[in-house]
Amino acid sequence: MTKFRNTWVEINLDRLAHNIEVIRMTSEKSIFAVIKANAYGHGDIEVARFLETLQVSYLCVSSLDEAVHLRNHQITTPIIVLGYTEPEYLSEAIDRNVTCVVPSKEWLVKSLSLNDSLAKLTLHIKVDTGMNRVGIKTIEEFEEVLQLSKLNMLNIEGLYTHLSSSNFIDRMITNQQISTFQKFIDSADLNFRWVHTSNSDAALSLGKLDKHSNAVRCGIAMYGYSTFDTGLQPVLSMYCGINQIKNLNPGDRVSYSATYTAINEETIAVLPIGYADGLDRKLQGYNFHINDVPCEVVGRVCMDLIMIRVPDHTTVNDVVEIIGKNSDAAFMAEYLQTISYEILTSVSPRITKRYLLHGSHYKTINERFD
Ligand SMILES: Cc1ncc(COP(=O)(O)O)c(C=O)c1O
Repeated sequence: MTKFRNTWVEINLDRLAHNIEVIRMTSEKSIFAVIKANAYGHGDIEVARFLETLQVSYLCVSSLDEAVHLRNHQITTPIIVLGYTEPEYLSEAIDRNVTCVVPSKEWLVKSLSLNDSLAKLTLHIKVDTGMNRVGIKTIEEFEEVLQLSKLNMLNIEGLYTHLSSSNFIDRMITNQQISTFQKFIDSADLNFRWVHTSNSDAALSLGKLDKHSNAVRCGIAMYGYSTFDTGLQPVLSMYCGINQIKNLNPGDRVSYSATYTAINEETIAVLPIGYADGLDRKLQGYNFHINDVPCEVVGRVCMDLIMIRVPDHTTVNDVVEIIGKNSDAAFMAEYLQTISYEILTSVSPRITKRYLLHGSHYKTINERFD
């Protein structure tokens, strides 16, 4: 039992350390650990604390809110906000020693007009090499940003871009992006302390092709998933207990809208987990596992409850594996026609997290109570 509900995720920090080591060995670069979105559902504070012991060079988040949350919990490693920071709030970033991103000249001009102490802010320039999302798209705009930075004695610490298709075996798009990025690097009369290009799949597959960078920005690989099989280990598993066992007669219907009808005499288990915990309603028909035996989700997934068809000998003391060795997040993602990122980031903070370290239980966190 974890806190007051028998539903929990297990987060194995030994596996996280293993994955960091895989990324380090494969990329031979410093690590910028991406812990946005509550560390992809793994709990940003505990993951950040652990990553500090592994001496990653930077923690990456998506908003100033996420960065402030980390600083409020005494995280001292450099933090970069990869997303757009409203120029109005940059003084908060300066006070918290949080690095921000220059996404455009327009942003920089506005930021300079609103802050007379912008030189105190650490900045990385984001170049858009083909994703057509955040970033500077032309060399002209880039040069104007560099000039403005020089004029105002800004602390431009880094330069980066983001790859759109590093999961493709065919590197055509990645190569195009890298060569565009190289042109930006060549045009700058500035030595950047940090240059970073690769996300997880690129870090694990590009090797020396990413020769202009000295760091990789990795999220999903740290948590155990990649398109490329490099011996990563999934960090998060999800389990729950059983609230009730029910015997069904042929013709009995289960859950809202009666989408499941028992054909035979069947046994079902009622589980204390639902879509409000991050499990997709389309999981009807998917298998959870009890003692490695697949048990089908029957009837609609409810907000807080799910029913599964179980072997007759099942008891309320059995543990149900929802994400684990029998079906990991990638497997569930495939069933739902999505990606492991969405499965992991959907894990609700209302689920208790049990952290494992050195092979045994280390800490239990429920964000409602801690
Ligand atoms: C700018 C940027 N860099 C790096 C990452 C990490 O990507 P991945 O989880 O594939 O390593 C993300 C994730 O969305 C991102 O937006």
